[in-house]
Amino acid sequence: MKKIILSCLLLCTCLAIQAQKIQYLVSFPNAIHHEAQVTLIAGNIPLQPAVFRMSRSSPGRYATHEFGKNVYDVKAYDKTGKSITINRIDGDVYEVPQHNGFVKITYTLYGNYADGTYVGIDPESIHLNMPGAFMWMKGMDNTPIGISFTIPKENKGIIATQLQPTGKPNTFTAPGLQYFMDCPTKIGNLKMKQWQTKNPDGKTFTFRLALEATATEEQVDTFTTKLKKLVEQTKAVYGEFPDYDYGMYTFIASINPYVFGDGMEHRNSTMITSGTLFSPEDRTLGVFAHEFFHCWNVERIRPKTIEPFNFEKSNMSNELWCAEGFTQYYGNLDLARAGFIDAKRYLAVLASLINTRTITPGCKYYSPIDASNGAVFVDAGVAVDKTNYPNMFTSYYYYGAATALALDLELQTRYHKTLDAFMQAMWKRFGKTEISYTIPLMQETLAGITDKSFAEDFFTRYIYGHEPIDYTTLLSKAGYAVQKANASQLTLGVGLSTEDGKLLISANTQKGSPAYEAGLDIDDELLSVDNVAVKTREELVAAVNTHKAGDTINIRYKHRDIEKQTKAVLKESTAITLVPYEESNQPVTEEMKQIRSSWFGK
Ligand SMILES: *[C@@H]1O[C@H](CO)[C@@H](O)[C@H](O)[C@H]1NC(C)=O
Ligand SMILES: *[C@@H]1O[C@H](CO)[C@@H](O)[C@H](O)[C@H]1NC(C)=O
Ligand SMILES: *[C@@H]1O[C@H](CO)[C@@H](O)[C@H](O)[C@H]1NC(C)=O
Ligand SMILES: [Zn+2]
Repeated sequence: MKKIILSCLLLCTCLAIQAQKIQYLVSFPNAIHHEAQVTLIAGNIPLQPAVFRMSRSSPGRYATHEFGKNVYDVKAYDKTGKSITINRIDGDVYEVPQHNGFVKITYTLYGNYADGTYVGIDPESIHLNMPGAFMWMKGMDNTPIGISFTIPKENKGIIATQLQPTGKPNTFTAPGLQYFMDCPTKIGNLKMKQWQTKNPDGKTFTFRLALEATATEEQVDTFTTKLKKLVEQTKAVYGEFPDYDYGMYTFIASINPYVFGDGMEHRNSTMITSGTLFSPEDRTLGVFAHEFFHCWNVERIRPKTIEPFNFEKSNMSNELWCAEGFTQYYGNLDLARAGFIDAKRYLAVLASLINTRTITPGCKYYSPIDASNGAVFVDAGVAVDKTNYPNMFTSYYYYGAATALALDLELQTRYHKTLDAFMQAMWKRFGKTEISYTIPLMQETLAGITDKSFAEDFFTRYIYGHEPIDYTTLLSKAGYAVQKANASQLTLGVGLSTEDGKLLISANTQKGSPAYEAGLDIDDELLSVDNVAVKTREELVAAVNTHKAGDTINIRYKHRDIEKQTKAVLKESTAITLVPYEESNQPVTEEMKQIRSSWFGK
């Protein structure tokens, strides 16, 4: 008997565990004032204090964000609907000290900032980035989640999400917290387009565009045609699509003046927002290219530092120069390869990367790893105090993309491979297998397609280090001359603004610039150059341009209301531009043509 009772008990415990579930009910009774009512039901939970919290970070956003600030009227109930104690134990953390294995939490959520990170609630359009919206229970990461929406009457009710539909209207599921958080959801008047394409092994995938925009059917069709081409172009880099859940990938896009510009990658979808008007020629296509490249690079080829994703704070990553920077490089490259931007525009993109890498103090004095580490503060991070970023931080997007350009050219000229070969090797080793990578493993992977000493040299000098890159030699291999952009233009090296007829320095002066050396600082007011008054940018440029490089000018200025005088030694601008050999009648060899054809010959 005893034995039987015991096994019955065991069985009951198993059933109880199976029935454990997190359920969200979401309604919008006050959508006009951007509020949602959220109910979170946690059933069959352990009989110990239950902790619920809002996230402080969101997948793909690398700075810490405080989502707890837009949650209020938090209450807790038991199974019978009786109110139970809930204590706020931290700004965004709530604890129910006692319960009977069932807790129902209700709260109000405010959201009026539709982008890839936050929440935008409006009767016609509901825009949810999950970490910005949903409180979750600690210790229940692997518990299945259900979610059900009650949609406002004014809303057209078309839902785009990668959550799994259940068959019941407006009801979806996710196998666990990481999955749930990675599925942004948009509800409104969405135009849906879909098409299918295949992998080399015959597996078919469906791609969906869920577009919120004022646009004609014809405009959306034109855009969809371009997007299809872009999808194929991106796949060509790796040779295959990753596996998507239910064989489906969703581009959720909201292009209208009511959203804020962003693009956020997820594993099987992306959320793209652009506060412009939709047009099929829109530059927004570049954002699609970038975000789609991410479904390989970062979503599956994943840095170990951010795997699994931590929702309590943004973990620091060393690898964003590749995860974001190489993606940035390919975003433009895929546009060029697909013919959406011409060679001239692509060269301007490359020149600007080279200028960033050569001129900015963030690249001169810090490594791409340092830049990646800075993401925890800069990626849409908000600061009230001032920072010295102009002198110690360069975005890992452009730093990384400039590094990708150098590696692409090194691989082409030394090994007759393109950067695609490196991305493919990373995909096979870390992406398909979903084994997260570290920088030493990346170096090893590069060695695998080149040789040990090249990989070691490249990583030591340009990834761990910040040595100058010889772009002049590298670009000459593709038949492009690196020339001074503004040969005769002199520079003081200041950002300027005018206010009440005053000419003000509007940004930190950059280390090494004439202005920095002369002791000029942000917020100083420029008064005169060589006793000629300067009140506008044009007047300053005119005054400076009567000189030549190396000349000393006298500057009168005001610092905190004290009038001062200084001398600045003028320098030539070091910005470069790329000029095709054809323009100076230099021969363009087959090798050069080959490199060019890997960029825009397809
Ligand atoms: C995306 O698809 C992959 C492959 O099917 C799957 O492993 C993953 O769980 C999916 N979704 C999310 C949100 O991670
Ligand atoms: C993220 O940071 C937390 C706390 O610093 C740490 O416990 C965790 O292991 C980190 N996660 C990863 C993936 O490195
Ligand atoms: C060159 O000068 C022009 C005119 O001042 C300016 O618009 C342009 O941005 C400069 N180019 C570079 C690469 O600095
Ligand atoms: Zn990105």
